[in-house]
Amino acid sequence: MSAIPGPPGHPLLGVVPAFERDMLGALEESFAAYGDCVAYRFGPGWGGIGFTAVAAYHPDDVARALLDSAVFGRDTVGFTVIRESIGDGLLTLTGETWRRHRRIVQQLFTARRVAGYGALMAAEAERTVAATTGHGDVVDLHDLMQRYTLRVVGRALFGDDIDAVVGELQELVGLLGETSTARRLQLFRLPLSLPTPRNRTLRDVRRRLFAIADAVLDGCAHDADPAAENLLTRLRGARDEDTGAGLSDQEIRDEVLGFLLAGHETTAGALTFTLHELGRRPDIQDRIAAAGPEADALVRASVMEGMRLYPPAHTTERVTLVDTEIAGYPVRAGTQVLISPWVTHRHPAFWPDAHRFDPSRFVGTHERPRYAYLPFGGGARACVGMQFALQEATVVLKALLARFRVDTVGHDMTLTPLLTLRPDGPVNARLTARVPAGVR
Ligand code: HEM
Repeated sequence: MSAIPGPPGHPLLGVVPAFERDMLGALEESFAAYGDCVAYRFGPGWGGIGFTAVAAYHPDDVARALLDSAVFGRDTVGFTVIRESIGDGLLTLTGETWRRHRRIVQQLFTARRVAGYGALMAAEAERTVAATTGHGDVVDLHDLMQRYTLRVVGRALFGDDIDAVVGELQELVGLLGETSTARRLQLFRLPLSLPTPRNRTLRDVRRRLFAIADAVLDGCAHDADPAAENLLTRLRGARDEDTGAGLSDQEIRDEVLGFLLAGHETTAGALTFTLHELGRRPDIQDRIAAAGPEADALVRASVMEGMRLYPPAHTTERVTLVDTEIAGYPVRAGTQVLISPWVTHRHPAFWPDAHRFDPSRFVGTHERPRYAYLPFGGGARACVGMQFALQEATVVLKALLARFRVDTVGHDMTLTPLLTLRPDGPVNARLTARVPAGVR
């Protein structure tokens, strides 16, 4: 494995300081310097302290890492840290228990079911539009989109709005991201039960998140109408087709928390980043506002392109279960493997002029390997909410752009790669009402 090239890093800490400073920048630089397969040393690399992770950036290697589950497993450092914080939902489970949950949960996200949420998404999109006057107000796109996605996932899950907890959830998601990302980069991870300041924060976040899930579920437990059509009643009623078994109350709670977390910050990010870029492209906005099939294709392509440049799930991990190879280099069993859509989405062999926002990359057909683009992962563990997210995103973009012209205020966003990619501060844009046809 020593043959794999990689940045020399700090003598004792390896890449940890560079990752703490700017992880995505460090990944991009090392990809430019060393190519499709890069070794990253965490810690000194001697005395059994720390470990070396290997990145697979080429789409062919990404495909193997995501598709070949006999070679690439999921019990990684990162997922263990997430699991400590948010429990045993679909995102963090492995093995047979994951398979059982997946069989049940995916019944909730079939194309027909997702289409059934169109009306509530449209209603929430209208509400979002109505919240702005259009007199040139400057709004924080991230806040606006987080509220929209939380309300959509809340209503889809529980059939009710979750406005009472939106503010607290927004705060907790930020804290969870910061503390668990820092914990992931620690070389010595003290057990969560030890009362270090960070562990205390993480435990407090965990307690408050579970309290929110319990409170919301309690409210729904007494819901008189078991026939109500929402994700929760379906989750409670769903049975594994193979065994006939359903999920226990605790399993349902962990899944619900997972949906609340995995299901809003990612989509809110995708929308924020897309609108930020569209806010500099009035020409594309005009074509979307014109409505019709071309506009529909373009709005979808804009979201896809937004997620190419700014993939909300910027990096994921696998661990090798057996000795294998990546890009021709031998890699030992037990190695952490980094997969980074952020880097692969900028691979110059597949994305010419990669830093330019250009939705036409996703209009019509283009020759490129399947895993040159992977905002939703792939293989058996691909995002279960993909169709839901895409529909949710296109509905609100169409509604907003039909009514307003969006002008980005300020220059570049600065982003922090926490569990998902988050803007560092407000992402401001000016929303001005479009002049309705015929009114001049
Ligand atoms: C733009 C929005 C979204 C993005 C970019 C996204 C991205 C991803 C990615 C990359 C994975 C796979 C991670 C890996 O393999 O390591 C994943 C898994 C998952 N996502 Fe999403 N997601 C989005 C929206 C949603 C929504 C709306 C939901 C649910 C309401 C959701 C629920 C999940 C769950 C439960 C998993 C775990 C699936 C499994 O391991 O079986 N996601 N997501």
